[in-house]
Amino acid sequence: MTLKNITVLGSGIMGHGIAQVAATAGYNIVLRDIEQQFLDKAMEKIKWSLDKLASKEKISQQEADSIYSRITPIVDLKEAVKDAQMVIEVVPEIMDLKKKVYAELDSIAAKDVVFASNTSTLPITEIANTTSRPEKFIGIHFFNPPQLMKLVEIIPGEKTSQEIIDLTQEFVKSVNKTAVLCRKDVPGFIVNRLFIPMVHEACYIKDRTGASLEEIDSAVKFKLDFPMGIFELADFTGMDVIHKATVEMHMRDKKVILPHPTVEKMFDEKKLGQKSGEGFYKYSDDKYERVTLSQELAEKVNPIQLVANILNNAAWLVTNGASDIEEIEKAAQLGLGLKKPLFETAKEIGISNIVNELNQLAEKNGEFYKPDPLLISMQ
Ligand SMILES: NC(=O)c1ccc[n+]([C@@H]2O[C@H](COP(=O)([O-])OP(=O)(O)OC[C@H]3O[C@@H](n4cnc5c(N)ncnc54)[C@H](O)[C@@H]3O)[C@@H](O)[C@H]2O)c1
Repeated sequence: MTLKNITVLGSGIMGHGIAQVAATAGYNIVLRDIEQQFLDKAMEKIKWSLDKLASKEKISQQEADSIYSRITPIVDLKEAVKDAQMVIEVVPEIMDLKKKVYAELDSIAAKDVVFASNTSTLPITEIANTTSRPEKFIGIHFFNPPQLMKLVEIIPGEKTSQEIIDLTQEFVKSVNKTAVLCRKDVPGFIVNRLFIPMVHEACYIKDRTGASLEEIDSAVKFKLDFPMGIFELADFTGMDVIHKATVEMHMRDKKVILPHPTVEKMFDEKKLGQKSGEGFYKYSDDKYERVTLSQELAEKVNPIQLVANILNNAAWLVTNGASDIEEIEKAAQLGLGLKKPLFETAKEIGISNIVNELNQLAEKNGEFYKPDPLLISMQ
């Protein structure tokens, strides 16, 4: 099949961005939402973004106009999917809602239409099995904002056919993104499995060592070569997203994450991060604002527990056949912005030191910290 016509279901934060990215690559896009006002807002944002690219001379105004003209906003679902070859679903992360949307979609869309879900944490196989076409169902996880983020995780469900995996990989390449295949439908896929648990570990480090947010973040940035501190990244992502991902991942697998109560508390108190003006840090307005971190502050914290946590989850992905080291490094670089490969940092610290750290943490705090067999074998 040569893909040409794609329907994007949901025009929110991710949906309008994905529509823009795919239209830029030449696809004919139908953008569907439940109310015209949502679509109007989304089309306005797309226009603003394309005009900005034109004003910066990244594309010509003519190109901007023709990309925009390839996106057709439609509310009526039947009309929206009548020519679709692939539907990318980008509706809110609520399992019951997704299932309802797929039940309706499945009864309307032609039998050969591919269903691709942008879910961050929900199980692909479970959603796929509610449709009549699990072999044509796949996870396609873009990152926020889709216009800028290079990475897309592709997650086949248990029954997804090789043909659909290949088609999706080709599609991702054609929209100028880098695909990383998460071979198994595991909680958190690759990037969230690495990132979300670290937020909780950082909270435990704060409790256990008494270090400040800035000291821990400085160590993450300057010693581990992250683009920003872990608390900063959490505030940027939003405590609503982190809390939801935590609940989903922990429900499916107790080994992936040891939830620290702070995250749920902050979510309950609506301390959502930059978007609400307060998260781990306080922000004077909702503009992107950097916290002051320094080499000097970094010296106060040994971030080995964080490295041990992320490495243990990375090793779990390899041991359980969901990924391999090369793909994990690609995902960490493009999805988390890591400047240095994870396993390189680990080797500098010493894999034996990391295994020792995990064993000590396991002794004090329980089984969760037990080192993965891959790390033990790499010593
Ligand atoms: N926001 C992120 O950072 C991010 C990153 C990666 C993946 N995701 C995933 O993308 C999905 C969407 O997230 P979002 O942040 O864009 O949400 P959002 O709330 O910004 O947008 C969702 C849109 O879907 C619409 N919608 C609801 N029911 C619909 C239906 N039946 N048909 C069509 N549209 C419908 C809503 O009106 C809304 O406009 C979720 O699965 C989320 O986990 C989000």
